[in-house]
Amino acid sequence: MDDLYREIILDHYRNPRNKGELENPTHTFQDDNPLCGDRIRIDLKVNGDGAIDQVRFNGEGCAISQASASMLTEMISGKTLEEAKALSKQDILDALGIQLGPVRIKCALLPLKVLKGAIYGLPATFDEEG
Ligand code: FES
Repeated sequence: MDDLYREIILDHYRNPRNKGELENPTHTFQDDNPLCGDRIRIDLKVNGDGAIDQVRFNGEGCAISQASASMLTEMISGKTLEEAKALSKQDILDALGIQLGPVRIKCALLPLKVLKGAIYGLPATFDEEG
């Protein structure tokens, strides 16, 4: 079973869904994984009904972080902000579906952390120095 999940992870890594940036996003946030310095940015366009019309992620990182970001964009596309807020760490780990050590768990959860930063309107960090 692990093999199937590995294949899915590799497919998301090689063919990331919703990769790029949005012009004039309503929500955006960027953060890094302190262990490796890899960064992920997530842009959202939320409509007047509070639903996520468009989502893009950008950044560099390992296969786990990139696949997790790609999967996350598919999970939240068309969902409301409230639904996206309710996503848990376990939802992400379940979607990845393989056993991860503590270092890799940080990789896997970085996109969710960035998404929550965007939703809760934390100050954007991508235009700060460093
Ligand atoms: Fe950097 Fe995984 S090694 S995000």
